[in-house]
Amino acid sequence: MAARIIDIAIDRDAAVTEACRVLGQGFPVAIPTETVYGLAADATNPAAVTRIYETKGRPRFNPLICHMSDLGMAERYAMFDPISRLLAEAFWPGPLTLVLPLKSDCGIHALTTAGLDSVGIRVPKGFSADLIAAFGKPLAAPSANTSGKISPTSARHVADDLGEKLELILDGGSAAVGVESTILRVEGERIRLLRPGGLAVEDIERLTGRTVERQDGPAPAIEAPGMMASHYAPGAAVRLNASSAEPGEALIRFHGLPISGSTDATAIFDLSPEGDLAEAAANLFDYLKRADATGATCIAIAPIPDHGLGEAINDRLFRAAAPREG
Ligand code: TXA
Ligand code: MG
Repeated sequence: MAARIIDIAIDRDAAVTEACRVLGQGFPVAIPTETVYGLAADATNPAAVTRIYETKGRPRFNPLICHMSDLGMAERYAMFDPISRLLAEAFWPGPLTLVLPLKSDCGIHALTTAGLDSVGIRVPKGFSADLIAAFGKPLAAPSANTSGKISPTSARHVADDLGEKLELILDGGSAAVGVESTILRVEGERIRLLRPGGLAVEDIERLTGRTVERQDGPAPAIEAPGMMASHYAPGAAVRLNASSAEPGEALIRFHGLPISGSTDATAIFDLSPEGDLAEAAANLFDYLKRADATGATCIAIAPIPDHGLGEAINDRLFRAAAPREG
């Protein structure tokens, strides 16, 4: 049976009521967030969390991000150091996840945290925060896509991928940010970047007056297991830093910059003709999917500046181009 899709712009109350019913029965619901669509389930219910993994076909249990309605709710589940609190107050609701010490016996199930004594928490912007407030419990939610595939930024993306496996998809339009949240972990005076994402590192450094420490090499297994090398893989091969297009390739460029050979490309997309990295992030996953759908054997992608949201874009592109697992 195909999932029911409720447009929250048309029937917000029905969306909340129906989602609370399905979530309360221990089943996942696809929800819009400002970063990407999430596959949400009751973070305190092990059967519900198990269904997230089954639906995504995720091979292993990784810690999932817990979504809260606001900072007050988050404080019931995790302990905040002063820097994490400053970050939360400045950037929540928004595309920031903080890894924090878990409060013992707070109710979040060990399957959600993969048995760790820490928890990744974020307060999303807009509808999903209201839904969580109505539901009254944190929602565990990874991106609503089959494991290893491109993350969804529209309800249509979710329906095309997981529609047969889900009961309910809430349609909140195109995700405004378009890449997953930035994940940080504060350790004493240090701020460590576990995943670049929709909040630019520059904004974090400006607020805190501290340098954010990037990972050297691949992230430690426990801290970013969702970030396996061949994540975000389209069907086509991906070629980065392309300065020219080969015949039969689909081309993704940036800032209107001309690329030689583009007349031979199967299709040309520009992530942001104006050169705006936030716009490029918002378009990234949709354009990757559309380029893939042209049937091109390879998607050639022009260089993207590496500052601001460009860091998250390049991280996702690097993973999309990585050798495929299995
Ligand atoms: O924007 C987002 O963050 C999206 C939307 C739906 O909110 N969610 C998302 O969740 O990307 P997920 O589960 O795909 O990503 C979770 C990432 C993983 O890389 C995981 O390892 C890390 O967060 N993570 C979660 N809890 C952690 C913990 N306690 N310690 C270290 N890393 C953690
Ligand atoms: Mg994902």
